[in-house]
Amino acid sequence: MSRKKITVVGAGNVGATLVQRLAEMELGDVVVVDIPQVGDMPAGKALDLTESAPLYGYDGRVTGSTSYEATANSDVVVITAGLPRKPGMSRDDLLNTNAGIVKSVTEQVVKYSPNCVIIVVSNPLDAMCLVALRTSKFPKHRVIGMAGVLDSARMRSFIADALNVSMENVHAMVLGGHGDTMVPLPRFSTVAGIPITELLPQEKIAAINQRTRDGGAEIVKLLKTGSAYYAPSASAAEMVEAILKDKKKVVPAAAYLEGEYGIDGVFVGVPVKLGERGIEQIIQLNLSVDERGELMKSASAVKELSAALR
Ligand code: NAI
Ligand code: 2OP
Repeated sequence: MSRKKITVVGAGNVGATLVQRLAEMELGDVVVVDIPQVGDMPAGKALDLTESAPLYGYDGRVTGSTSYEATANSDVVVITAGLPRKPGMSRDDLLNTNAGIVKSVTEQVVKYSPNCVIIVVSNPLDAMCLVALRTSKFPKHRVIGMAGVLDSARMRSFIADALNVSMENVHAMVLGGHGDTMVPLPRFSTVAGIPITELLPQEKIAAINQRTRDGGAEIVKLLKTGSAYYAPSASAAEMVEAILKDKKKVVPAAAYLEGEYGIDGVFVGVPVKLGERGIEQIIQLNLSVDERGELMKSASAVKELSAALR
């Protein structure tokens, strides 16, 4: 059986950390691509990771390149190329700069890997997914945005902390756009199957919801020189694993909606089933009137931003 092949575009904080995680998880051969800069940064990072292989015991090859030929016939391509947020910057400030980057990257990706599944990480996430979908002309199930896994992981960590329970016991569901309007869903967030609405007072839940919405900004404020990358790379790795192992794993992720949840023509975070075909199902939760209202508000914000794409 030949190994699976994964390309990571962008060898910055998220990209390089993701490559390390994918190699250590032994998910396949990994190619990392970046633009030509002083030296050959992707090749240097790939070689460094190859030299770690005897210590961690992984056999997948790690290759770095500034050209896309090396990426040919990838099964999954993760796009992390772009500029990250700086303090005081919103994800939306990045819109048109990163749109140009994601468009040119996607053209190259599609040329060499016409059958891959694309996972977009670059911000503003939901709008960048639309750029990748339009540019690739892939069927919608093969273009997926990473955000919900990250936002839910943040919420899970805050819940585990508040209740002093194992992180493993906690599941959480955060829907909507990857921005200030994201929609944490306490009714669908559980500890060993028990909804947190039965375990925590309302004020505490409200505080967790707000900290989740502000999760990215909280890290930017601490780091000052960039944005989060450990949890983001772990989140993307979980999605790559679900696809390559055909796990049929249900996670929140940005999907192109055509009427689901009453939303049409935009990428919005919803629960999806991930398998070898990419998004194999969009799961429709039975939302309350308030939850649905918040999701529609978030979808409107994404729609407005996506309409500003030049
Ligand atoms: P970074 O600045 O450390 O790395 C970005 C890399 O992209 C750099 O190495 C840069 O040279 C490369 N790049 C720029 N243009 C390129 C092109 N045309 N082709 C190939 N590579 C190119 O940034 P970081 O922290 O890795 O973040 C990357 C992106 O991911 C940002 O847009 C950030 O906002 C986003 N992000 C999204 C998250 C999410 O939940 N969806 C979470 C964390 C980050
Ligand atoms: C985050 O949520 C910046 O979108 C990135 O950390």
